[in-house]
Formats: sequence, C-alpha cells, structure tokens
Amino acid sequence: MSKYVLPKHIAYTRGLADHINVNFSDSTAQALTYEQLCAFSLDDLNSMPLSYSPVQGDVLLRESIINFHQNLNCHRQTLKADNAVTFCGAQEALSAIYQSLLAAGDEIIVLTPSYPSLVAMAKSMGVVVKEIALSADNHWQVSIADFTRLMTEKTRLIVLNSPHNPTGSIIDSALADQLLALAKQQQCYLLSDDVSQASNYHDLALAHRYLDYSKSIVVGVMSKSLGLAGIRIGWAVTQDDSLLNSLLAIKAMSSICCSKVDEKLACIALQHSDKIITTNNAIIRNNIALFSAFINRYKQAFNWQPPQAGMLALVEVKNIDSIVAWSNALVKKTGILTLPSELFGLQGNYFRLGLGQNHFAQTLAIFEQYIDGQSIS
Ligand SMILES: Cc1ncc(COP(=O)(O)O)c(C=O)c1O
Repeated sequence: MSKYVLPKHIAYTRGLADHINVNFSDSTAQALTYEQLCAFSLDDLNSMPLSYSPVQGDVLLRESIINFHQNLNCHRQTLKADNAVTFCGAQEALSAIYQSLLAAGDEIIVLTPSYPSLVAMAKSMGVVVKEIALSADNHWQVSIADFTRLMTEKTRLIVLNSPHNPTGSIIDSALADQLLALAKQQQCYLLSDDVSQASNYHDLALAHRYLDYSKSIVVGVMSKSLGLAGIRIGWAVTQDDSLLNSLLAIKAMSSICCSKVDEKLACIALQHSDKIITTNNAIIRNNIALFSAFINRYKQAFNWQPPQAGMLALVEVKNIDSIVAWSNALVKKTGILTLPSELFGLQGNYFRLGLGQNHFAQTLAIFEQYIDGQSIS
C-alpha cells in the first residue's frame, strides 16, 4: 500500500464535495478573470508558440520574480534571475525542496497549526517533525526561544510561514533577523514560505533578509496574495547552487517544465502586481471590517483574532461539542464550507476563515442567517 495519503484539508473537502457551494476557508485573494489580466498587457498571447518552456523557467518571469522579492524584502545581496526556479505551484516547489534537503532521521522545526503539507511531506519521509505549538492565549505569536529550545545537532531545516496559514500571525523583521542568526549559527537550512507576504495591508515590518544566507530558500506563488490560483506557477529562490541543481533535477524528472502559457500569464501578473495587490488588499481589509462587526454582534457564540496580515484567521466557535460535526452540519444546510482547525494540527473548536473573496459579504449574510436559525431552534 502507498505510504502517501491526501493532506487532511484536501481529503475533508473532497468528502463534502457534493454539498459545497462556497468556500468560507479559501486561502486565496480574489482572482482576476483571464480577460482582466490580459487587459494589463499589450503583448499578444495569440502569437506565442506553444513550445516547451526552459526547465528553470522563462527568464523574463524569473527576473520578475526576483524583482517582486527584492521589493518586499531587504537583502543586502543582489539576487539574479538564475537564483529562481519556477514550479507548478508553491506546493511542487516545497515538495522538491523537502526531497532535496531531507532524509529519514533528520529533524525539522515547524509551527503548529500549519499548512498541512509542511508536516505531512516530512512525516512521509521519516523526518522527525519538532512542532512549535501556537496558542490563541498568546495571540498565535512565536519567539526566538521557541525555536532555540527545539534545535539539536540533527536540525536540518527551519520551516517558516509568514503571514501564517491558518492563524494570520506574522514574523516581523526583528524576529526574522534573530531566526536568520540562529540558522547561520547552527548551519541549518531556513525555508520561508512567503506565499501571502504581499498581503500586508497594515504596512507591518514583514521584510526579511533571509536570502543573504546561502542556505535560505524563499517560496512564492501566484495563488495567494495575487489571487491567481488558476495560473499554476510558484517558485523557489535560493543562492545555494547545489540545492538549485537538485531542484532542477527533480523538476526535470516530474513536470520537466511549467506550462508556457502559465509562465507568460504569471509574468504579466508580476509586472502589474502593485495594482493587483492594492485591489486585493482593499478587499481583505473590507472583509476584516465586516467580520469584526459580525463578531461584535455574536460575541456569545464566536471569538477571533483578526489577521495581522494575509487573508486567513482562526475563528473560535463557542459552546459546541465538536467543530467537525458543526462544520459538517453547516455545509449540509447552507453549502458553506468551513475547514476545522484540526485539519491544520490544532485541537479545539476553531475553523479557518478566508477573507480574500469579493463574495465574502454574501456568504457572511447566509452564514448569519443560519446562525440565527440555530439559536432560535
Ligand atoms: C502556506 C502555504 N504554502 C504553500 C501553499 C501551496 O500553494 P499552491 O496551492 O498555490 O501551490 C499553500 C496553499 O494553500 C499555503 O497555504
């Protein structure tokens, strides 16, 4: 039998597929249509030959990726297009990074709860996962001491994700500097999953300089802050040439290269990312205000901590026995999918809330109607 199992959030969603009308836990910002995206560019996609793309990814796209990261961060080193490899989504990049760096018996440090694959992929490889448990009482925050405590001579990789899925907490620039110093001191790898970094609508200090260290890898993607999950392009950026060669070899043995159409569309999106992200961040801010007002009306039944950045937060449902039973009943009655926090490794009656979508107000209205009906009956 295969040692591979579906990540829990995907298995849960597939199990309820017949009931789902709308995903209230969506981890992406609002998607543009193909027409809206192409309106940014005069380039004629119609005349583009549909041939292979380079294994490492289109060079113009890789330049745009590097610019995107340089603008959000504060590396002292100047990065080049050669430091980036494109993948079919961030997930494929993360998988190639784990395959390249980790072997059975190695240790990694991960925040819990987390994006499920960050833990599941390691466990499937026999890697020992040391988890830092985030808690609502501590506003989902971490400190450098949480990491130092778990470091051993077997620690091969520190896995970071900020803004964090699913809590919406962040690692600020000061903590990022401390983490970088720790990784350098231990000579371990540092992976920063930055897929929502551009969703920084409160202008917090999210810039880091991880890529000044050769054993750092940063991962980004089209799907989250840019909202363009239908363009299956993600990437890894690193200064480590041997890691880069390994990532290329793994890609060459799986997809060989990304879709040329997707790479072209990703290039257009990154060249116009300022406008796309300004619009998307306004939607998230507006949805946070709507949900804060909802929480004020339903304090007896719900609690939450709004995200510091990104489009995700955890919502506590009070006075219920089981969040899974509650979520199942909700989707069966209303078509609204909510993902219980235990799918992300957190026990307790929380669900993940996605704040990126234009239709959030409509979904919230249906949700509120359902909650009103529940408390009456
Ligand atoms: C933190 C995090 N990293 C990586 C990914 C993978 O992104 P994609 O599905 O676009 O490959 C996700 C998707 O939900 C995510 O939340």
